[in-house]
Amino acid sequence: MMKAVIRGTGRWLPPRKISNHDLAQWMETSDEWIIQRTGIEERYWVAEEGGMGASDLGLEASRLALERSGWQADDLDLIIFATLSPDYFFPGSGCLLQAKLGLRDTPALDIRQQCTGFLYGLATADAYIRSGMAQRILLVGAEVHSTGLDVSTRGRDVSVIFGDGAAAVCLEAVETSDQVGVLAAGLHADGSMAESLMTEAPASCCNPRISREMLLQGKHYPYMDGRNIFKLAVKRLPEVALEVIEKARMEVENVDLFIPHQANLRINQAFAKAMGLGKERVFNNIQRYGNTTAASIPLALDEALEQELIGPGSTVMFLGLGSGLTWGAVLYRFI
Ligand code: UT7
Repeated sequence: MMKAVIRGTGRWLPPRKISNHDLAQWMETSDEWIIQRTGIEERYWVAEEGGMGASDLGLEASRLALERSGWQADDLDLIIFATLSPDYFFPGSGCLLQAKLGLRDTPALDIRQQCTGFLYGLATADAYIRSGMAQRILLVGAEVHSTGLDVSTRGRDVSVIFGDGAAAVCLEAVETSDQVGVLAAGLHADGSMAESLMTEAPASCCNPRISREMLLQGKHYPYMDGRNIFKLAVKRLPEVALEVIEKARMEVENVDLFIPHQANLRINQAFAKAMGLGKERVFNNIQRYGNTTAASIPLALDEALEQELIGPGSTVMFLGLGSGLTWGAVLYRFI
């Protein structure tokens, strides 16, 4: 049976480090409030004048992942790109990344699942590999949030949490009967809550898609009903974790490390508590990167591997909840 196994990972952060104190110069907030409510101490943003899109960050992370896998770009037979901050309204950033990797014929697929983009992407890559449709897949999560944030006090509840960044994973088809690769996945969505975390403009239902009035109203900035999303995350994450562990006919104790989406440290602490997990079994790096949405889970994976918290034979669970609303979990065992 074909299994999707991770061959290499890579991450890339832009060089401009933004501390909570920096943010406090632009809006009414404080280091104390941000740390207490979110756990975030700093994040990385692209240069203020712009010039780097999601595909540029994705390119740097992809180069590292390819190198660590011992692959050339033309070994790939599919690119899956997860982002909520694409370079353009269309075409997708996957196509731009494909060209930047020097490829001219490799299929490229964009995934618009926001915080769960990596989970949906991993489940999709697994399906491609199991069905024999692909052998070597590059899965990328990349975000440039900073150019789309309201850094005035009006946007402070959202702007303080987001960071830019990218991470990439190379997945390969391996023929084996061993219990390795993606062991089980559970994906969910509830579109009735789409408006609780969204960026409204540009909007295809508006003519023109973005107007001066919409800009003045801040419709091009993200809106988030933070309190409600928080409550839902605390409820849904343990639910979906248990659902997927059960699907794989395993126990919570069999999971070496939980790698959750990095939206708020308190959400992940509540998840650990609900699951009865010690601090060492739930990986967090939001303190240094903020919420990098589609990049957050692979970024955490790359760091957990680098810190040798996981390695060959380890079982990990990736999970998250975010805009859509979407939520899910993927259980994975390293070969
Ligand atoms: O990754 C996508 C999924 N997203 C999430 O999972 C995010 C989930 N939600 C959250 O992380 C939290 O709701 C936030 C961090 C966004 C907000 O924290 P909170 O503890 O829910 O705060 P709140 O929205 O209830 O606001 C509490 C107070 C308010 O003031 P009043 O009404 O009590 O006077 C806000 O105006 O804090 C105020 N506030 C701020 N103060 C200083 C909101 N943002 C800030 C800020 N600095 N940046």
